[in-house]
Amino acid sequence: TTAQPGQFICVYLGDAQSIASPREVTPPDTVNALIGASLKPSLILPRPFSIMHVADEYFDILFKVVGIGTSILAKVSIGQQLRIIGPLGNSFEWDEDADIAVLVAGGIGVAPFPFWAQRLKEAGHDVVVFIGARNCNELPVTPIAHEDARIQALNTSLEARIFAELGVPSAIAVEEPMPGAFTGTVVDMLISWLNAHSHLRPIIYACGPKAMLQRVQMVLRERNLRGQFSLEERMACGIGLCLGCACLVRDLATQQLRYQMVCTDGPVFDADAIVF
Ligand SMILES: Cc1cc2nc3c(=O)[nH]c(=O)nc-3n(C[C@H](O)[C@H](O)[C@H](O)COP(=O)(O)OP(=O)(O)OC[C@H]3O[C@@H](n4cnc5c(N)ncnc54)[C@H](O)[C@@H]3O)c2cc1C
Ligand code: FES
Repeated sequence: TTAQPGQFICVYLGDAQSIASPREVTPPDTVNALIGASLKPSLILPRPFSIMHVADEYFDILFKVVGIGTSILAKVSIGQQLRIIGPLGNSFEWDEDADIAVLVAGGIGVAPFPFWAQRLKEAGHDVVVFIGARNCNELPVTPIAHEDARIQALNTSLEARIFAELGVPSAIAVEEPMPGAFTGTVVDMLISWLNAHSHLRPIIYACGPKAMLQRVQMVLRERNLRGQFSLEERMACGIGLCLGCACLVRDLATQQLRYQMVCTDGPVFDADAIVF
């Protein structure tokens, strides 16, 4: 109930009980059988995931299987218990000078945005969401067709179901052509939209691969726009103790460089402050 959009949780997958059923504690051997190997030391580290959506006492996460931890997580079934800590980190913030929020997601970087889009909408702010993927197989959302051009100036007829259910317009960019989608990267789509809406003062929220964030940062600097990025770093503790998730940022007042922790100072940072 205290979770804010942009915050995350850490899931511990390295001990037997973290994936045990409530009634039946799974011995380590069963865990090893599940992953088909000895328990790897790397599983001691918690795995961070954005809070995607919150309803009553429940919350959702959306994750992509990229390695051993997410493979285990994908095999957890209903009723099994997970050891998690959270909500952790800071959150996205609305900019009172802005008149629309533009949420830019690269692939699984969409995960924190349903929660944020919902909060923005509830607060009466205009929101649009752009989601990009290399091809339709890598889209992290379910595309649905809409009849009207819900987002003016983008020649697209596909939107993401999860945002449509929130009443928030969205558009999908795919690098390999796909009927109804914008052809190109999500940053290309952002630029098209910005060109057609130069009368607006948007604030850009972005989450995705580093290369995408670097491009968005350049676009924002060229146009003197404000933005907030959610960063991803490997995390060993998730609570500011190990200094393993340091990222370099520039103090925008003094221009001095310093390290900050993604887990406690972030994961959300001012887009202009991040040094890639
Ligand atoms: C604040 C935060 C929020 C995140 N939210 C989500 C989310 O909502 N959904 C989601 O799918 N993923 C999210 N991630 C990334 C997710 O934590 C990693 O994909 C996951 O920890 C990988 O675990 P693994 O054991 O499967 O991979 P490993 O077996 O440990 O590694 C597999 C590959 O993934 C890379 N990797 C591992 N950890 C990270 C990381 N933290 N960031 C980037 N690359 C990593 C490794 O370099 C390696 O190439 C988030 C990361 C952070 C820091
Ligand atoms: S993960 Fe340990 S300080 Fe951030």
